[in-house]
Amino acid sequence: MRNLKSTTLLFELSQPGRRGATLPVCDVPVPSAIELIPAAARAASPPPLPEVAEPEVIRHFTNLSTLNMSVDTHFYPLGSCTMKYNSKRNERMAALPGIADLHPLAPEETIQGLLELLYELQHMLAEISGLPAVSLQPAAGAHGELTALMVAAAYFRHQQQPRTKVLAPDSAHGTNPASARMAGFEFVTVKSNASGFVDLEDLAAKLDDSVAVFMITNPSTLGLFDRQVGQIAKMVHDRGGLIYLDGANMNAILGITRPGDFGADMMHYNPHKTFSGPHGGGGPGAGPICVAEKLAPYLPTPIVVREEGSEVRVQGSGTDDRTSSLNPEPRTLNPLPIAFCAVLATLGWKRTKRITRLVVLPEFQGLGIGPRLAETVAAAEVAKGNRVTITASHPSILAWCSRSPRWKYLGLKKTGSTRQQLGQRTIRCSTGRAVASFEFVPDQ
Ligand SMILES: Cc1ncc(COP(=O)(O)O)c(C=O)c1O
Repeated sequence: MRNLKSTTLLFELSQPGRRGATLPVCDVPVPSAIELIPAAARAASPPPLPEVAEPEVIRHFTNLSTLNMSVDTHFYPLGSCTMKYNSKRNERMAALPGIADLHPLAPEETIQGLLELLYELQHMLAEISGLPAVSLQPAAGAHGELTALMVAAAYFRHQQQPRTKVLAPDSAHGTNPASARMAGFEFVTVKSNASGFVDLEDLAAKLDDSVAVFMITNPSTLGLFDRQVGQIAKMVHDRGGLIYLDGANMNAILGITRPGDFGADMMHYNPHKTFSGPHGGGGPGAGPICVAEKLAPYLPTPIVVREEGSEVRVQGSGTDDRTSSLNPEPRTLNPLPIAFCAVLATLGWKRTKRITRLVVLPEFQGLGIGPRLAETVAAAEVAKGNRVTITASHPSILAWCSRSPRWKYLGLKKTGSTRQQLGQRTIRCSTGRAVASFEFVPDQ
């Protein structure tokens, strides 16, 4: 239980004469400390330090430490990213002294191990994305969006093409329009169709030579993978624009398909969603970006590089077209080693597909697990001579039942709760609007 008393300031707990430690009397002559300090450097009076006992100090700071939000101790009201499995082993590895205790300004030759790790990470992220040039600089997903849009702006400036607009579907995360505006673009929304995918007619109507970038989250925030993405990329490329892939849901396609292969020119990763890092909540965290070769000269510096056979080093500013350093805070490094540990050390990055197959596809393709289980139970009940009906409100169960020939549609029902009737048993769920009921008809 939280010790509320210890949130009191140490100054308020102070009692004259209380001490944290009492040292034994010294048995050799001790010069007075005051005589060791030159008169000019002495304060007029002693500092007003709190006088408290050791247990009070320990309780105070232990309690303060519990006020940090933590997935172990609190409800953590962020989105899907925090529901992913963030193994602590990766955190422990990233907290090894060789990584965590490095001085942010340590000379390059003394941090070759860390630079090697970052260099390898760049390589892995490029391979997974199908986009060869990487910047580890951005401090969050949103920061990655902004960085990539600034890269796009520099690219078009260099091409002497005055492109002013960024487009994204209405299902986009709020950071997409915000990043577009911050990078100096006008933001235009493209409609989604009835199935939740990009409305191609609306996209075609809004595409013109002033469009710099179309941003797409795929799978989208609705959990749908838009199979039209290749066609969308062609439409945008034909008008000279670029495709930005918001990689927040990369864990659903990791190792299965690559943004670079389906037409993306730029993307960001959210390591806190995909690679078990802590969520920066807009930063400090990490949001590395990958871009196509033609955009590489505009990436922000520094970049970790290695020339054949030489040491790994940090490359400073390049051409004038480069987006200048966007992350002055070196301590945001932490999620990157965690990402490295998650991908390389835990799984072997070439097997990242396993993350997707084992963990995420069932989540995204919600169809299947629940209804299939229900069908197995239902078949057993029907075999015993029982009638089995299901009243469904969850979209995935509705979709499954209405498509499967094993479920006969009985009609609409409006009740305040969801019921599942299996033989003699009725299972009632307290939430949801039950909208349709079906009867199980086993295979003949
Ligand atoms: C689709 C999408 N894009 C971008 C972001 C922004 O990422 P971050 O919170 O790392 O800034 C999120 C975060 O939840 C997201 O879900």
